[in-house]
Amino acid sequence: MTMADGATPRVRDFYNTFPYPPDPLQDGPPPGYNWRWCYATAYSHCTGRAPDPSQPLHVLDAGCGSGVSSDYLVHLNPEAQVTALDISPKALAVARERLRRSGGEQRIHFHCMSLLEAPSLGRFQLINSVGVLHHMADPATGLAALAMALADGGILHLFLYADGGRWEIHRTQHALRLLGVQADGAGVRFARQLIAQLPEHNSILQRHQQRWSLDTVGDAAFADMYLHPQETSYTLERLFRLVEGCGLRFLGFSNPRIWRLDTLLQGEALERAKALPDRQQWQLVEALNTDISHFEFFLGKLPLPSHTWSCDEDLLTATAQRNPCLWGWPGSRLLDPDLEPMDLDQEDVNLLKAIDAAPLQPLRHLLDADDGRSRMRLGEQIRALWQRRLALLRPTIH
Ligand SMILES: C[S@@+](CC[C@H](N)C(=O)[O-])C[C@H]1O[C@@H](n2cnc3c(N)ncnc32)[C@H](O)[C@@H]1O
Repeated sequence: MTMADGATPRVRDFYNTFPYPPDPLQDGPPPGYNWRWCYATAYSHCTGRAPDPSQPLHVLDAGCGSGVSSDYLVHLNPEAQVTALDISPKALAVARERLRRSGGEQRIHFHCMSLLEAPSLGRFQLINSVGVLHHMADPATGLAALAMALADGGILHLFLYADGGRWEIHRTQHALRLLGVQADGAGVRFARQLIAQLPEHNSILQRHQQRWSLDTVGDAAFADMYLHPQETSYTLERLFRLVEGCGLRFLGFSNPRIWRLDTLLQGEALERAKALPDRQQWQLVEALNTDISHFEFFLGKLPLPSHTWSCDEDLLTATAQRNPCLWGWPGSRLLDPDLEPMDLDQEDVNLLKAIDAAPLQPLRHLLDADDGRSRMRLGEQIRALWQRRLALLRPTIH
């Protein structure tokens, strides 16, 4: 390992003891999907349009851990060459075995190295780095390396801890540090007992029971939460300062529902809030929602398009593909990309079937008769499919 962040030795030791995530290995492809790891769906989320399929696709999982995300990246992007790196040999050994058993090992290369070295591996259209930068002594330098490894027009998916919804974790970590508790099996047992013996009305105990006890049943997950040797977390303000320093553009959250004001406010408060610029609207959500424990979002390297598909002519000359991240197709009762139930009417089902049957043809081939009304109706229907993330659209001219 030629380049290392100041925290690398202790973080590597930690993950050699507790490879993460501790998900069990299984034979065959991973179940379902996570749309953030499907390049076509993620790119469409960021830009409004599907990517150009004639371009080669190189994907990097930076800090892949035990390989759960790498496995999805391989299976959700059948055309991609996937590269995965991590500083922990033990985590990488689990990742290799996971990919061998899932049948994905032919399309992935693993490297035991720091993400600081990512630019030496090439340029990538999609980089995924979930839960990694906040374990570096210098996350800004880590982010700069990922920005350098991103191809022009590429997208970077990040997940970083948020201060607001982690106060109970930070307090517990602090208490355990004061007591000299080590990140090993005995330390985990001690820490579990410490939390369990807190008085019944204690908020740390209550929050642990309500929010984290299911996630921390296994020792590796428990240690990752409470006994980590290196962890930073962010407020929105500090997050945007970090992002502004890296030269990439913020393209939006990858869990946008959390950031909707109408889940928290109504009436006049909602109206006033909606008049604020985006950043302040998010800060309002950050202030009012006490459970936000992470930020997950996309950054992009320009040039990147931005399509809103407001013009029918553009829609009808575009091509479309069904979003690969849908569960239950073909059928009218689906799970959407976020695995939420979604009902389709017969017209939507027929249109999606027609799109499936001829994904390379401009959508105007679906017109019954070439008159103004049916053009408008088809345009509306396709726009609605796109807005509901059932279909991804690609302009005919790139
Ligand atoms: C919390 S785990 C996340 C694993 C995986 N990304 C996921 O979300 O399932 C963090 C991983 O980042 C790795 N890591 C930490 N610092 C790193 C660095 N500087 N370069 C590469 N990997 C790093 C750790 O070894 C660990 O496997």
